[in-house]
This record gives sequence, structure tokens and C-alpha cells, in this order.
Amino acid sequence: MHDKKVYIETYGCQMNVNDSEVMLSILKDAGYVRTEDITDADVILANTCSIRDNAEQRIWGRIEQFRIQKKKRDVIVGITGCMAERLKEKLLDCHAVDIVAGPDSYRSLPDMLEAVTPDNPQVNVLLSHEETYSDITPLRMDKNGVSAYISIMRGCNNVCSYCVVPYTRGAERSRDPRTIIREAEDVFSHGYREVCLLGQNVDSYFWESPDSADDNVDFAQLLEAVAKISPELRVRFSTSHPKDISDEVIYTMAMYDNICNHIHLPVQSGSNAMLEKMRRKYTREWYLERVAKIRSAIPECGITTDVIAGFCGETEQDHQDTLSLMEKVGFDSAFMFQYSERPGTLAARKYPDDVPEEVKTRRLNEIIALQNRLSLESNRREIGKTRRILIEGVSKKNEGELFGRAGNNKVCVFPAGGHKIGEYVNVKVLSCTSATLISELV
Ligand code: SAH
Ligand code: SF4
Ligand code: F3S
Repeated sequence: MHDKKVYIETYGCQMNVNDSEVMLSILKDAGYVRTEDITDADVILANTCSIRDNAEQRIWGRIEQFRIQKKKRDVIVGITGCMAERLKEKLLDCHAVDIVAGPDSYRSLPDMLEAVTPDNPQVNVLLSHEETYSDITPLRMDKNGVSAYISIMRGCNNVCSYCVVPYTRGAERSRDPRTIIREAEDVFSHGYREVCLLGQNVDSYFWESPDSADDNVDFAQLLEAVAKISPELRVRFSTSHPKDISDEVIYTMAMYDNICNHIHLPVQSGSNAMLEKMRRKYTREWYLERVAKIRSAIPECGITTDVIAGFCGETEQDHQDTLSLMEKVGFDSAFMFQYSERPGTLAARKYPDDVPEEVKTRRLNEIIALQNRLSLESNRREIGKTRRILIEGVSKKNEGELFGRAGNNKVCVFPAGGHKIGEYVNVKVLSCTSATLISELV
């Protein structure tokens, strides 16, 4: 008997990456070892994403590949994560899947693997109001040992009309802050120098103490507690919601040098009509005010965003409003998407997906072209500045060069000069592309 080998593929957001680490930890305790070679695995897991149709299509393509593996040998295929939760038993219909496990079911994976047979597939898609995996130490998958994800909450209580996440991840719940701090201290003592606190909406983090209301903890307080672990531990977080990001969070960021000056603040659209239909619960004016507040407290704060092109009923004027907002803010970078209708969401039920495909694509391309210019302009403003970098790895293009990120999340490359991954160095920015700052050690 050899140890059973598990291979895992991860799709979707950072939270899914962290969930894969939680699964690996649970499986390790049950006697499984991780393999990075799919042909060698006894168990293949795909931790999946449902956010847009193309994300799911990609996974269907992978399931076909897994079917080929299954023809060759005895191997168990499990689909976990958001697509498992969304499609449930339907995933079994393709006859290539043995296990379907939703985001709150990972503690039951060892039992499901034990019980599964070709005639007895296993499905657990129960969502929980309590599960935060707070006692589980994720088995880190990052290669560099520098930056660790820590989930501080699960689920989402917002009802953005386009979004599938509340259906796949269930209700919002916050994790006990003591377990978060313990985990951050633990990774720091293992050499990590950066933690990224994760939640769909970190600003609504709230721990209600069972003992006394005095012990309740909100996100600003959590951020401060993690920042106090050590000045040598950098703190990042994602994602902030424009309707919830508080002045306290902004002031806490300004107060601690080791809280990185970067906020990912998804705007989605610059048109009030679209924001209303999207149920984002803020206006263009509110968003711009939040940006002004951030910049007055933290003048050099990096601000990045997400944008959706071609939401239901979007007019040319709505689209122009998005472009003008992007220009006004001057985002440092952005993730940009074409609207993809998700079954079961409010938008799918209420609003026709009526912007023609070619119009969506054209608008998205205009958004991308604008952002490329804004990113380049933002990077050009860095030239001549000195930035503190946490070294994350060796440059892919040149082995003699290292790369790392500045607090504002910009990637810098520079000649190694004998430095190592995990060290902090100061670099001066010499030139740039729209994606990278070319720098030298100072
Ligand atoms: N919780 C985060 C985002 C989670 S999803 C937040 O509220 O900002 C990441 C991004 O995917 C979203 O910000 C949005 O821009 C995009 N997205 C979500 N649903 C989408 C859909 N149906 N079609 C296209 N993009 C979508
Ligand atoms: Fe989706 Fe909105 Fe929740 Fe973000 S805040 S996960 S976009 S419902
Ligand atoms: Fe995707 Fe689920 Fe994350 S839908 S973006 S993996 S929460």
C-alpha cells in the first residue's frame, strides 16, 4: 500500500486557491499526499469557478480530459467549489465525475473518498451558516514561501444582480479573529513576509464576540491587529466594496507602514442607471467621493478595479460614463469582463441580456484600450521614485533578475545583486511598460 496521491487544479479567485489549500490540509490529515503529476494521481480534484460562462466551459473541457485518464486507469474525479455548488447532481450526468463537493463540505472529503465507488458517486453540496474552516491550517501551495492567503470570512450577503457567488458560496460569515491572528503569526514564523486577507467583501467583516460586545471586532480592528504582529509582515486585503469601505479602514491603512497602500475597489460601471440595476448600492458620485477620501488620507495609494461591459440594457451613454469614470479615477490596473448571464441570478430573471455580443466585445475592447493607457500613465508616474519591494521570485525573462511588488501592488524587476526571495529591498524605478517597472537597487 502506498499513500494515496491527490492532484488538484484550481480555478477562479484567490479564495478558491485558499480553499484548495484547506482541502489539501484535510486530505493530508487523512493520509493523502499531494502530487503535481496528474498521470500519477489516485484522486483528481478540480476546484472550480462559476463566475462567467467561459469559466465553466473551460472546466467542462478539463472534465473531458479527466475522462481520458479514467479510461486508462482507476482514478477518482472530484469536482469541488462553485461549479459543484451550482450544478450539484447534474455534474454526475456526464459520467466522468465521482464526487461533487460544494465549498462548505470539504471536511467530508475523506469520508466521501472512502465511500465512493463507480456505482456510488458522492454528492455533498450543503451550505453552512457557520463553517469557516477556522481550525484548519491550510497546506500552502505557493512556490515562494513569501506571501500567504488567509480567508477571514466566507460567503456573501450582497445581491449584486449579475453575480452567482451568493448562490455558490452561501451566506456571509466572519471567522474568529483569534484564529486569523494565530494563522498570520504562524506563517510569519515560517518565513512568510506577506499575508493577504481574503473575503468577497472584507469591509463587512464583523466578529460578534460570544462573551461581550466590547470584544466585537470589525475589519479596521482586525487589520490593525494583523499589522501589529510585526513591522516586517506586510498586510494586503481583497476585496473592498465601495459601499462599505469605511474611513476607519482608510485611516488604519494610513497609520501602519506595513499595511500596503493598495485597494482593490471594483466599480463595475460608471453609470448610475447600471449601478442601480446591478444592485451595487452606491452611485458614481459616492464612488468618486470614496476615491477622493482614500487619496486625501493616502496620497500614493494604488487603486485597482473590476469593470463589466455590456450589462443588461447598457446604452452607449452608460458605456461612455464607465470610460469617463475610469479616466477620472485613473485606475492603476483593472480586471475587465464582458457581462455573462448566470442562471438563477436576479439579472437573469428580471432583465434581458440584450446588448448584442459584438457590441459587448467592442465596448470591452474600448475599456481595455483605455485601461492600457491609464496603466502606462500610472507606471510612468513611478519613474524616478524609490520603492520598498518584497522579493517574490526570479524574473521569467532573465535569471539574473528578481521581481517583487511595491506596496502599491506594482511589479518591479531589477538585477539580483545577491539578494534573495523573501527579502525587502529598496529599488529606484528607471523605466516601465504598462505592466512592469524596470528598476535598480539603491
Ligand atoms: N466580491 C467581489 C467580486 C467577486 S467576482 C466584489 O464584489 O467586487 C469578481 C468580478 O467578476 C466582479 O467584480 C465582477 O466584475 C465580475 N463578475 C461577476 N459576475 C459577473 C458576470 N455575471 N459577468 C461578468 N463579470 C462578472
Ligand atoms: Fe458578487 Fe456582489 Fe457579493 Fe461581490 S459583493 S461576490 S459581486 S454579490
Ligand atoms: Fe469563481 Fe466562486 Fe471565486 S464563482 S470567482 S471561485 S467565489
